[in-house]
Order: sequence, then structure tokens, then C-alpha cells
Amino acid sequence: LLAAEYDRAEHLTTRILEMLCRRALHAACRQAGLTRSPQDNVERILEVGSGTGALTEALRDAWPSAEILATDPSVNMLAVLERKLGDVSGLLTTAVAEATGVGEVCRFAPDLIAAGLADPYLDTEAANALRELGSTDTRLFVAVPSHRWARRERTERLGIAIDTTRFRLRGGRPVYTRSLTYDEDGLEALLVASGFALEARGTERSKAIWSQPEVSWVLATMQDA
Ligand SMILES: C[S@@+](CC[C@H](N)C(=O)[O-])C[C@H]1O[C@@H](n2cnc3c(N)ncnc32)[C@H](O)[C@@H]1O
Repeated sequence: LLAAEYDRAEHLTTRILEMLCRRALHAACRQAGLTRSPQDNVERILEVGSGTGALTEALRDAWPSAEILATDPSVNMLAVLERKLGDVSGLLTTAVAEATGVGEVCRFAPDLIAAGLADPYLDTEAANALRELGSTDTRLFVAVPSHRWARRERTERLGIAIDTTRFRLRGGRPVYTRSLTYDEDGLEALLVASGFALEARGTERSKAIWSQPEVSWVLATMQDA
């Protein structure tokens, strides 16, 4: 339902959250000393909940020779991504899958699993499923809108449940979807409980609009089982 207009400029908050998510990826790489040099060994990237590709593009810019599998349960979101980023190199492919089912479509051992703006699905079950996918060499980058920001935007401004986000369709009709937000501590706790070890974490903030959107992020490695 949202795919056709997800990328429209009117969705200003989403555009800012995407920008913060890309900034978070760069901050995570900086903090972890992860650059785009070949010794990083980021050759295969699995992206979860890739949507229309805002983070996919940043991943491709950061590691231009990496193979990227972009996954999302929405065929329509992936169709937009393919139109925007479909390439001739053959390095970027897509597959329809939920976070808990990406193991069934991912045919390689990823060096990096990336989940940008993962709030529609990032719960314990999803974190456990992502942990099952990698080895100890696999890194996970996750970013979500911060819980502190959700309190300001949803509870105080919109008067809606803190775990719900609202999109206004072009015709004016509002659509409400699940959105699980975390602050840095909560995100770290969720991932550590699922068998990840923290490598870096942070919060990116924007003052562009009054509610001052924030994105919490974590870069984690996988603990030995
Ligand atoms: C807020 S968008 C973020 C898109 C993109 N990652 C970005 O950073 O711009 C969330 C995406 O999660 C997808 N999604 C919803 N439920 C999901 C699930 N259970 N597993 C994986 N992705 C899901 C949606 O279809 C949507 O494309």
C-alpha cells in the first residue's frame, strides 16, 4: 500500500530518518575501524527489510564490489528498489522474505547483515533468526528510530501508541503500522540477549524539524554459540 508513495518528498520525517540511518552506517564503520578497504572482507551483504533501497544505496557506495542481497516481504517495495538501483553489474539481487525467513533465500554466508529502520519487525524472534544466519565473522548493523523520539512524536504530538507509526497517504487517509523503537541501551540489550556482542553503538540526531528525529544504532558481532 505504501510502496507507490513511500519515496515522496512529503514524507519528510521518513527522509530524515533515512538520512540518519545512512549517517549511522558511516559512524558505525568509523567507530569499528571498518573502512572500504579490501581487508575489511565485506564481500557479501545481506540486507533485511530493504524497502525502497535508501540504505542499499549507501551499502553499495561503501562497498562497490560487494555482492548485495536486498530482502523485504513486500514485492512492491522491492519493485521500487529495483527500478531505482537495478544495475548491470549483477552484484545487487533481491528476494522476497521476512526477517525470520531470510535464511531460506540467502545462498551465501554474509560478512555483513544490515537492517536499516528495522522498527516494523525487530523483536526477539527476528533478532534470534538473524543470529542463526551468521558465523562469528559476520557483523550485524541495525538502526531504528529512537524510543525517546517516538515518545515525543507519537505519544506527545500525535496522541497514538508508541509502537505505532502513522503515514498519511496522498489522498489524506492515514495508515498505521507497527513500529518497535529502542534507545541505545534497549537495542544493545535485545541483541546481546540473542547472542550478539556489541562492537559499536550510537544515536544520530537531526534538528531539521521540531520533533528532532533520532536513530539509535548498533554494530554487533556474533558470539560463539
Ligand atoms: C521503515 S522501512 C525501512 C526501509 C529501508 N531499510 C530504509 O532504511 O529505508 C521498513 C521496511 O521493513 C519491511 N518489513 C515489514 N515487516 C517486515 C518483516 N517482518 N521482516 C522484514 N522486513 C519487514 C517493510 O516492508 C519496509 O520495507
